[in-house]
Amino acid sequence: MKTQPPVDALTPLEAHAEHARLAEEITEHDRRYYQEDAPTVSDAEYDAVRRRYEALERAFPELVTAASLTRKVGAPPAEKFVKVRHAVPIFSLANVFSDEDVHEFVARVRRFLKLAHDAPLSFTAEPKIDGLSCSLRYQRGLLVSAATRGDGFEGEDVTANIRAVQEIPQRLHGAKHPDVLEARGEVYMTRKDFFALNERQAAASRAVFANPRNAAAGSLRQLDASVTASRPLRFFAYAWGEVSDMPAQSQHAMLAALARFGLPVNPLTKFCASAEEMLAHYRHIEEQRATLGYDIDGVVYKVDDIALQTRLGFVSRAPRWATAHKFPAERATTILRGIEIQVGRTGALTPVARLAPVTVGGVVVANATLHNEDEIARKDVRVGDTVVVQRAGDVIPQIVEVVAAKRPAGAKPYQFPQQCPICHSAALREIDEKTGEADVVRRCTGSLVCPAQAVERLKHFASRNAMDIEGLGDKQIEFFYAEGLIKTASDIFTLEEKDKTMSPRLAECKGYGETSVKNLFAAINARRRVPLNRFIYALGIRHVGETNARRLARHFGEFEALRATAREASPGSEARTRLEEIDGVGEVVIEALHDFFAEPHNEREIDALLRQVTLEPAPATAKSSPVAGKTVVFTGALERLTRDEAKAQADRFGAHVAGSVSQKTDLVVAGPGAGSKLAKARQLGVEIISEEEWFARTGQG
Ligand code: IVH
Repeated sequence: MKTQPPVDALTPLEAHAEHARLAEEITEHDRRYYQEDAPTVSDAEYDAVRRRYEALERAFPELVTAASLTRKVGAPPAEKFVKVRHAVPIFSLANVFSDEDVHEFVARVRRFLKLAHDAPLSFTAEPKIDGLSCSLRYQRGLLVSAATRGDGFEGEDVTANIRAVQEIPQRLHGAKHPDVLEARGEVYMTRKDFFALNERQAAASRAVFANPRNAAAGSLRQLDASVTASRPLRFFAYAWGEVSDMPAQSQHAMLAALARFGLPVNPLTKFCASAEEMLAHYRHIEEQRATLGYDIDGVVYKVDDIALQTRLGFVSRAPRWATAHKFPAERATTILRGIEIQVGRTGALTPVARLAPVTVGGVVVANATLHNEDEIARKDVRVGDTVVVQRAGDVIPQIVEVVAAKRPAGAKPYQFPQQCPICHSAALREIDEKTGEADVVRRCTGSLVCPAQAVERLKHFASRNAMDIEGLGDKQIEFFYAEGLIKTASDIFTLEEKDKTMSPRLAECKGYGETSVKNLFAAINARRRVPLNRFIYALGIRHVGETNARRLARHFGEFEALRATAREASPGSEARTRLEEIDGVGEVVIEALHDFFAEPHNEREIDALLRQVTLEPAPATAKSSPVAGKTVVFTGALERLTRDEAKAQADRFGAHVAGSVSQKTDLVVAGPGAGSKLAKARQLGVEIISEEEWFARTGQG
């Protein structure tokens, strides 16, 4: 394309004319490409035309009409990002830290797959980019949407912003790409661009970013995509989500395919045939770390064969077939100015170190965790001490040790409080009935009166992985609680009603205005329908994290069945046996569920909540799977699957695995030598299939 004047040098009339001309040109290119399969321009030329078209619209917003081509593929979100559900969830990675861990990772993969120690097994090793992950969806080769990772299941629609990233093609190169391709990878910023951006920010008296990752995240998550366009973001593709027709069968060949389609892939990705080769590549990457120009925080190893990846599957939220080998944590020394005790939603008293601010690995650290009372005693940490602070990735900074030689005279051993610093109830360490030992955590006993616990429970309720109420963050909750407007979770949903009769109205309060109040009420109302699993998790029942909440939601299907069973689940009861049958739910969880639902205060609050909120079934792991929602028992010797693998597969296809056959069993998968379980299944008339039939039914045949 010949040199053009910058868009902001054009008069509105010129812009209008060029916009109309480009629209025609793009439509014609699309027709040639999609209908005739005979493009007349290169992909790079096409991208350049499209970018010019978008730049015109950014400079002259009046050009954006319903007919605009940018509208056809998702308009920029107006007030906040629209949530999008990922067709395939985005998982995170487990971490390893030493050579030994890497050998153990490889050995674990072999055990799971029943491979001999000398059977060939290869991996890829590539840098772990320190940015934010993003999923790009291409349909018929055209970029149609882009989403951030979010909680892994649901992210934010950042399509308009991603279109502003130069390195990301609007249209896949070549013609041999799958109809649907979700490319996943990391959006990041180089160090050079980060420093330059910070200089521009500082010159304009705007906030500077702590590190390139924050700068990348802040630049991508801009409601005004023209801001993103002015920030130099980059991208490396390293994974994929939905793909209609896999172009390759191995990790390294998939990356090569993504590169052919025009997506940037990291040049330091290497195919490795052994743990030794993986470790050698780790050291090679570590040596280059300082001169790469962008931040990395480790090396990711992935089993190369995609068929094996599928067999290995996932545990919790991470693949069994991949792991991140992190670089050692970065350290610095500073002064411990004080120790503050925080009270969590379950009453746990957690000591937090207040430090003289120090830079550790490029980030200013002013707080660090001290874990618990025993940890402080073991390290003999005293206020005034010089301490070594360590920071590794996303982990909260920790105090590693005290520099004894620098202890000031008169520093006294730290006395951990025996009372809750907020409500002054006694703070006790529970004695474990089995071991007779005191729990490491000291807890405030005032759960129903302690304001700190109430506030923390509310924060948890509204948080991202729970009810996910946007605009109701920690600060807002503290404010509403202190003002007496929100004391319990159900109060959140009556706030709008309450506001109508309040004086002053919320919109007149400091820090609020008409728009923010309107947005807050809209965000609250948007969560009047929530998936059951989120609601269960949001209740903050002890030991019921996201995984258990999902299991319970899947098992019971609706809330009242869970509530009735848990309430009646005293030891030895029939209800308890029913809970014990849920795969993965152990005694500690059952006890916590029973305690929670048997408490009348909780009952009342749940009733109040259910008057406000409608629960929807939890999203199934695999909606279309014919075994989704079924209770399956595996018995006898399975030939192709280990037990762990069978369980993982069932989980992936949305089935529950039970240990014994009962009226509730839908399906028994029986291998040779099956005995009493098979007999019982026959007696109860439960459907019995072979291992081969299991593969066929789950579409793996
Ligand atoms: S693979 C199922 N490869 O690290 C496989 N992730 O700690 C999922 N990341 O959320 C990820 N570089 O944002 C993979 N080369 C790489 C990566 C990488 C950075 C990020 C990614 C992920 C996080 C997990």
